[in-house]
Amino acid sequence: MDAPYDVLGVDPGADEAELDRAYRRRVMETHPDQGGSARAFQQVKAAYEAILDDRDDSAPDDRVDSGTDPGTEASDGHRDVVSRVEYLDYEVIDDRGWSIDDDDLFSKASAADLAPTAYGEFLVNPGETLLEAAENRGFAWPYACRGGACANCAVAVVEGEMATPVDHVLSTEMVDRGIRLSCIGAPTTETLRVVYNVKGMPDLDELKLPPYRFERSRSDD
Ligand code: FES
Repeated sequence: MDAPYDVLGVDPGADEAELDRAYRRRVMETHPDQGGSARAFQQVKAAYEAILDDRDDSAPDDRVDSGTDPGTEASDGHRDVVSRVEYLDYEVIDDRGWSIDDDDLFSKASAADLAPTAYGEFLVNPGETLLEAAENRGFAWPYACRGGACANCAVAVVEGEMATPVDHVLSTEMVDRGIRLSCIGAPTTETLRVVYNVKGMPDLDELKLPPYRFERSRSDD
């Protein structure tokens, strides 16, 4: 494999912001739906992670979002907590003119007789990301790269906490607003309320990739 900095096309002295920009640029260039290949995309992802791992060896760990409770992880690194997730589709909020900041949002949703795909609850088991848990319970939540490099799988955490260990695409401001990536994130609290399908929200739109067909692309590769 080429040297990680060469793969990203960035100088080894690049600061974190330059590195993130280069990663994002290369992700867009190598994404299978943008004319790249799954192999090139994975190479970019691996290079980025290798650089981060290397830098983390000499810096305090800041790759876990604030609010994470490390006490919820078992000694093998997996969470040992089963979380109950209450979810709401952003499209419902948009269609009905509701606000994501409304304190009564989930009460309204609960009283609105919505389809089970739009509103409901499921459990997330230890070892599952939020997206995996949704899929394992039969839901088709949006995603693209499944690697923390876009915003297609983004959710807004309204109550509770989620940890996303490799969350470098979202800005600090978005993270502060409770936006998390469901493909790499998992609840760290026993209950969690999230609005999913928030990829169309302002600011997130520009981080969106076309719907990803990674499994198909990989088998074609
Ligand atoms: S699907 Fe791209 S970051 Fe989750």
